Amino acid sequence: MKKILTIVGARPQFVKAAVVSRVLRAHERLTEILVHTGQHYDQNMSDIFFKEMDIPRPDHHLGVHGLGHGAMTGQMLEKIETVLISEKPDGVMVYGDTNSTLAGALAARKLHIPVAHVEAGLRSFNMRMPEEVNRIVTDRISDILFYPTETARNNLMREGFSNFSCRLIKSGDVMYDAALFYSDRAKAPMFDLPAEFLLATIHRAENTDDRERLTGIVKAINEIHRGLSVVLPIHPRTKKVLEDQHLELTCQCVDPVGYLEMVHLIKSSTLIMTDSGGLQKEAYFFKKPCLTLRDETEWTELVSAGANRLVGAEYAKILEGFIEMRGREISGNDALYGNGDAGQKIADELA
Ligand code: UD1
Repeated sequence: MKKILTIVGARPQFVKAAVVSRVLRAHERLTEILVHTGQHYDQNMSDIFFKEMDIPRPDHHLGVHGLGHGAMTGQMLEKIETVLISEKPDGVMVYGDTNSTLAGALAARKLHIPVAHVEAGLRSFNMRMPEEVNRIVTDRISDILFYPTETARNNLMREGFSNFSCRLIKSGDVMYDAALFYSDRAKAPMFDLPAEFLLATIHRAENTDDRERLTGIVKAINEIHRGLSVVLPIHPRTKKVLEDQHLELTCQCVDPVGYLEMVHLIKSSTLIMTDSGGLQKEAYFFKKPCLTLRDETEWTELVSAGANRLVGAEYAKILEGFIEMRGREISGNDALYGNGDAGQKIADELA
């Protein structure tokens, strides 16, 4: 039996772990220990995912949250190290690009415990993003890199990863597995939905912490909402900044929703506007056109396929993109993200 210790902490990691933990725990040669760093901690940012998606209860909850990057990552590093020393796993698995990912990979590496990184090789080429720094460092110190797309593989090759002592494995995208598995379990939210609407989310620091960008986005959403209803589950970070900056969204803002409700919202929407990485792909899985409120994306194949358009954070550019993408047919049939068996491939490889 191999003992894998998985580290999660932020919302998108709960979705990914839901898929992988299920197959991992069913595998005859694997056992799993789950660690929650505490980065996301609200009922609707964390607990609801564990409950609705049948994610096993974490074996260790580190309770680190609400701190700056240095303190957050530092405290996680220290606490994860303590857990690793007592649990002595055969390997550590981390997901994506958050501070929890970086802290987990670094703690394990320093203890000479092999690290597996799921969602390796993604790049925005924007080093001002904390996520980009987290990804690059995590990839470099990982032993097994599970990459989701050809674009990701090309990035790793360009950075010389074929010269390093690590293994590169094409797994496909675990978020596609999740979309397939949970699609039938989608659940209507408690609030009323318009017959036709645009589904929006905003949470990236590059948007929330830049007043000019945030103002452009808010103005554009308010304008779009005059013609097509906009529904926006609002991230706690964004809510706080809007209040502090006295910016007002006139659209339907709702509390963050769980994954099953999110799938319902995506399926019922007309189009999607977001700065989230995961939602860009989920739009594609459910054949919805997507406007991305960023200047670059890690999921460039969606832009090439015409399913996603980068509109940045400028009012005029967002509205122009909205007019162009509204009503666009998305085929979503090109297996860009694998076959929905990424979780199984990862478990087999780890075993
Ligand atoms: C983090 C990740 C980002 C990921 C996102 C998903 C990093 C650097 N960023 O960004 O890659 O896409 O999660 O949501 O790791 N807060 C609450 N309640 C919660 C969670 C957060 O109030 O349940 C507050 C925090 O206290 C903090 C702010 O929201 O003040 C931001 O949270 P944080 O985890 O730092 O970053 P995210 O924006 O969520």
